[in-house]
Amino acid sequence: MKRNILCIGAGYVGGPTMAILAQQCPDRRITVVDNNAARIAAWNSDTMPIYEPGLEEVVKSCRGRNLFFSTDVARGIAESDIIFVSVNTPTKTFGQGAGCAADLQYWEKTARLILQHATTDKIVVEKSTLPVRTAHAMSRILHSGASAVHFEVLSNPEFLAEGTAIADLTRPDRVLIGGADTPQGRAAVAELVALYGAWVPPERILTTNVWSSELSKLAANAMLAQRVSSINALSALCEATEANISEVARAIGMDSRIGPKFLKAGVGFGGSCFHKDILNLVYLCDSYGLTEVANYWRQVVILNDYQQSRFVGAMIRAMFNTIADKRIALLGFAFKADTGDTRESPAIRITRLLVEEHARVVVSDPRALDNARKDLADLGDRVLFEPDPYAAAVDADALVFLTDWREYQALDFTRLLPRMRRPAFLFDGRRFLDHDALFRLGFNVHPIGSPPLSHLDN
Ligand code: NAD
Ligand code: UGA
Repeated sequence: MKRNILCIGAGYVGGPTMAILAQQCPDRRITVVDNNAARIAAWNSDTMPIYEPGLEEVVKSCRGRNLFFSTDVARGIAESDIIFVSVNTPTKTFGQGAGCAADLQYWEKTARLILQHATTDKIVVEKSTLPVRTAHAMSRILHSGASAVHFEVLSNPEFLAEGTAIADLTRPDRVLIGGADTPQGRAAVAELVALYGAWVPPERILTTNVWSSELSKLAANAMLAQRVSSINALSALCEATEANISEVARAIGMDSRIGPKFLKAGVGFGGSCFHKDILNLVYLCDSYGLTEVANYWRQVVILNDYQQSRFVGAMIRAMFNTIADKRIALLGFAFKADTGDTRESPAIRITRLLVEEHARVVVSDPRALDNARKDLADLGDRVLFEPDPYAAAVDADALVFLTDWREYQALDFTRLLPRMRRPAFLFDGRRFLDHDALFRLGFNVHPIGSPPLSHLDN
């Protein structure tokens, strides 16, 4: 008999991963539960709670057949055999490790819920990103009750990126499964391998011990973020020396040992995970007394913050050392294109820095304006929100591009320019526009990572 699957946590990971599992394994019954009733209602409606290209089609093809969304966590636990835990693990904001360690309260409460409602043996799969050795703590909580129920804890971190989640899940570079080297551990790993084997080629399914699996997730994110910080560090040097970061990235990326991906300079990495996972790694290193290692990784985050303040500093200098009372149209608030997610988006910090300088900021974004309104709620009417970029540009001194939406490449800049005050500035924080063409149109163009193209005397 095929065993029932439950996922606790219906967020950016739980929803899409289970939708693909349901699509690829039509003979499995998969339930996704969450204690956020509004989120579950959205998963059951025509409007998905998150924007992710292709997701809606997959959900609609499986929902009600073998994919179910519910708030009944207790029942879900009782009726399932394999439980994926995909709850949030944000950075702790209080007490010991505040600002660095992972806040494990949601994960810990979930473990206790599983213990409370389980009456049969379960495989419990860590899908959330967790500090190394969390599986050990989870196993201890799960076995702290009086019952004889056995829980086998596996680590199966998720590597999907937002905006490309459906492709990443359908054709993953690898699936990583960590389990204990015991008869029960090996059996549980084999069961998860068989589950993914329905659509993932065997050579892409990697099995390791639990701790390697947990650490590999933090390490992968740290290495990816480190590449972004490395290229951004070089972008500062390019601006100072008339080198061009796109040319440098191309030249170094053609070395097959380095490779071309993740070498795009910009206003820095955002998203819910890079920042928190590196800080989590830093905290782990510090707690094992590895100060130099901790400091090495900490620098990746410091450089990322620097890139944003450097970008704002360059704007102020270009605009005659004052942006007070100037209208700045900030185009793109999502942390990357093809998502409405704004968690840790560089746009949040950049907007705040601009407001501190008393600029009048107008934020526009094709998908992320609702989240932007929440992120900046405390700024009140010091920030305006405008879905139409052409309206945002009216009387603006500068257009500032912070997300590389394809829609923005298709903007009619000959319509935008006449609406703006002169001299008109354009700051490309993602290096995705045609700078020469914009300069010829009359913009003073300031791309991150290469010298400005200016009509003004220096
Ligand atoms: P999220 O905040 O979007 O979703 C987590 C969900 O868990 C929320 O809806 C919350 O209500 C629910 N939840 C928390 N405690 C619960 C409980 N006790 N019972 C029921 N539901 C509960 O988070 P996310 O972005 O999906 O990330 C989840 C985990 O996956 C994190 O550890 C994250 O680091 C990791 N991850 C995220 C991504 C990504 O792209 N967002 C990618 C890979 C890994
Ligand atoms: C990232 C990882 O790519 C996923 O493998 C991982 O599963 C996920 O984090 C996670 O653990 O949450 P995600 O944050 O969704 O995925 O998006 P990325 O494509 O990695 O982009 C992250 C940030 O880096 C974005 O702000 C993006 O604009 C920036 N970036 C990326 C650059 O500035 N330059 C690049 O070359 C690449």
